[in-house]
Parts: sequence; structure tokens; C-alpha cells
Amino acid sequence: MESTRNKLIQLLAANSEQYISGQLLSDQLKISRSAIWKHMKELEKDGYQIEGKSNKGYRIISYPDKLSENTVRWGLETDWIGKNIIHKESTTSTQHIAHDEARNGAAHGTIIIADEQTKGKGRMNRSWFSTKGKGMWLSIILRPEIAPQQAPQLTLLTATVLADVLQSYCNVKPLIKWPNDILLNNKKTAGILTEMQAEQDIINYIVIGIGLNVNQSTLELSEEIRHKATSLYIETEKENSINALIQEILMTFEKSYDQYIKNGFPDIKQKWESYGFKIGEEITIKTIKDHFHATFLGIEEDGALRIKRTDGSIQRLYSAEIDW
Ligand code: BTN
Repeated sequence: MESTRNKLIQLLAANSEQYISGQLLSDQLKISRSAIWKHMKELEKDGYQIEGKSNKGYRIISYPDKLSENTVRWGLETDWIGKNIIHKESTTSTQHIAHDEARNGAAHGTIIIADEQTKGKGRMNRSWFSTKGKGMWLSIILRPEIAPQQAPQLTLLTATVLADVLQSYCNVKPLIKWPNDILLNNKKTAGILTEMQAEQDIINYIVIGIGLNVNQSTLELSEEIRHKATSLYIETEKENSINALIQEILMTFEKSYDQYIKNGFPDIKQKWESYGFKIGEEITIKTIKDHFHATFLGIEEDGALRIKRTDGSIQRLYSAEIDW
């Protein structure tokens, strides 16, 4: 059940260009005018800037820069992504919530955000440091009508979305390190974890988890990762609004996803390769049986790594340890 407070914010948000009278609010929310006034005072305490004029009513002027369903929704211009927002101040992992919600039928485009994760998950069972209020910890539920084998394309698409958005925030060009780390100045600033629930040829749902280091100083990054990780704050020398970043990422994601569904993978592949770390350069590859040098050529339709070995043969790699 939506709270009166959330309904009130939504009414104010929908009427941000004009004043909405206390009487109208009281009729719509079925509470007294003095209760409306008390709610307004509470919202102001939380950092909402509300203008109240006698004979005219109330108007919302600005939102606080803290994460909530309302602050993310305010100004989010999308058709389907983020229409359903779940926000937690603290949770184990937004991936856990996303799986529960998806199993219970959550709509395509539902997002889960948290200020803090106590058991943030990275790829290959690694943990993901998710300090309170310092980064963007986001999971997106998708129900794409594509074959399960195409799912890695959505991870590659997400990486290009992050690279595009980060590029608009800082002076350095972001690079994507295969399969899906986003680097700024050769240090990791974001990672993507894609998890899928599928049958042989149908996807039930996909959860795309994105972790983006936003406002950590070097000392606020865990010691374990400090030498290889960075944040937007470290790179831009200023604090950035996590709310604004979420909105930018969701809007860019929706556009890119819609184009992908319409036109297929080629545009994404091209864009990914334009950000690809060490494309055209020599890398060292370790597999269970082998250890060799090769030139990194790009990515395949299925997300595999395309390499050229020293004997001139072209090979696809799905999993390997790479010495970049
Ligand atoms: C990686 O590079 O290993 C992937 C990291 C993915 C982290 C994000 S943060 C939001 C979502 N919730 C999680 O527990 N993990 C993903």
C-alpha cells in the first residue's frame, strides 16, 4: 500500500508547474487540511523545498538529494524503466530482492536501489564493496523476448550505457575491459553482474546488477581493491549526485535497449568495441590447458572474446584468465 506521504509527493510532482490547493489535496488524500500541513512540514524537514501561498496552495520546488522512490522518480523521463522502484536504505544485495520480486511477477523495467549492501555480490562469487551512500547499487529486472544465448548481449549493452554516461561526466574516456568492467584511467569504477532465470529457449527474467563507485575518496575504497579501483569522485574531484546518475543511466539504458530490440546487436557491438580496452593489442591468456599470447580483436555476437593467435588463427574465448 502506498503511503499518504508518497501519494502527496506524487500529487505535488504531477503539478509542479502550478499550485495545488490544500483543499484539493485534502479531498484527494482523504485527510484533513491540518494533516496536509503537518505532512508538508515533515517533507521540509527531509529536505524537500515546498512553497506554500495563501489562496493558491502548495508547489514543490526541489527534491532532496537522497535516494528514495520519489527522488528517483522525480524528473525520470522514461516509458517503461523505473516505473516500479524499490528502494532500501540497507539490504544484503539488491540482486536478492530483484530475484524475489521477479519470481513474484515484478514488471519488466522494475528497479531496485539501495544506499548500502551488506553482502554485495560481484562476478565469480566475489564480494562487492557497497559503502553506505557512496555509490550506485542498482538491479534492473528485464523480461526480454530474446533467446537465452543472447543474454550476454544485454551485459555488453549495459557496459556501453555506463561508458556513455561516465564519458559525459568526466574528461577521460571510459574503457570497457572484457567482459564488463568499466575503467577510468585504467582503474575499475563500475562492474556488472547479470543473472538469468531461463528454460531451454525462453527467458523468464534477467536481473542486471550494476555497481558504480561514485563518491568514495581513495581512503574510503577498501584496502583490498584500492590499487585497482577508482570512483567518479576521485576522477572528477567533485561529489556527484547518485540520484542524477541513476536517472541518466536509466534513460540511456531504455533508449539503447529499445534500439537493440528493434535493430539487433551490430550497433552495440560497434559501440562496445569503440570503448574496448586493449583492442588491437597483445594480451596474455591463461586457460586450464594453455598459456599464450594473442592479439585482442574484439567481441563476438555471443559476447565471446575474439583473438588472433601468433600462428594467424582466429579464436573465440568464452572464459579465460587474461593478463591485461
Ligand atoms: C563485478 O564486477 O564483479 C560485478 C559487480 C556488480 C555489483 C552490483 S551492485 C548492485 C547489484 N547488487 C549486487 O549485490 N551486485 C550488483
